[in-house]
Amino acid sequence: MEDLGTRWLGREVISWLDVVESTNTEAIDMARNGAPEGAVVVADCQTRGRGRQGRLWVSPAGVGLYVSTVLRPKVPVESIPGLTLAAGVAAALAIEQFDVGARLKWPNDIMIAEKKVGGILTEAVWDKRGIDFVVVGVGINVNTQEDELPLSIERPATSLGLYLGREVSRTGLIRALLCQLERWYESFIQGESEAIHRAWKGLDMTAGREVEVCLPKTRIRGTAESIGPDGALLVRTDKGELHTILAGDVVQCRMVGDE
Ligand code: BTN
Repeated sequence: MEDLGTRWLGREVISWLDVVESTNTEAIDMARNGAPEGAVVVADCQTRGRGRQGRLWVSPAGVGLYVSTVLRPKVPVESIPGLTLAAGVAAALAIEQFDVGARLKWPNDIMIAEKKVGGILTEAVWDKRGIDFVVVGVGINVNTQEDELPLSIERPATSLGLYLGREVSRTGLIRALLCQLERWYESFIQGESEAIHRAWKGLDMTAGREVEVCLPKTRIRGTAESIGPDGALLVRTDKGELHTILAGDVVQCRMVGDE
């Protein structure tokens, strides 16, 4: 592939693979073996793509984007959720070059017309001294056909190509994605958390909606008020209780008043 357009991300080490279990697993192995910040793994197909909360990320060959990056931020562990927000903004903006109204659904689903088109899996490894590395993995359904998408009523999925009704260049999208990731990661390490939070809120489709959030042992229903700077979702129940949710999944996200 010709120039990626980035200054450092994917410049020194970039690994293009045909088939891999998971680009995140591959990137974690590379990082453990000393891969530098900015190393990138791209695969044409994943046999066991990993999603959030132990789910599988369906990754058919030749139609999706499966990309993981090795980052080595020198920040306290507590600020990692800010990096996840930054990656969400980057991925949504890369997709938005197609003018599809890409939005973010908490915690980091990339949505088009209420359907999921992409997701992010951030995995950090740290010890007493601080963060060793973080792998940010992005999966985007690019030219994926209806019968290749996961079937789920609670989590409907789409692809960019299906929405646009035409084939989309995966190389163009990789370039845009890596450029955006580089830009928003720099913003993150420069401590521009307010700018990242503002950008995330500008793309957010969750706030103001009636949501049902799936937690490990329970579900919370209420109105999503906003996203905190720490990436937490604030949900107010009908009884007026405010819940600060750090990790979970929004499985319903209706406009107030919708049936
Ligand atoms: C989600 O559940 O929304 C997150 C999905 C993340 C999928 C991507 S595809 C590239 C990278 N490798 C993986 O195994 N997962 C991430």
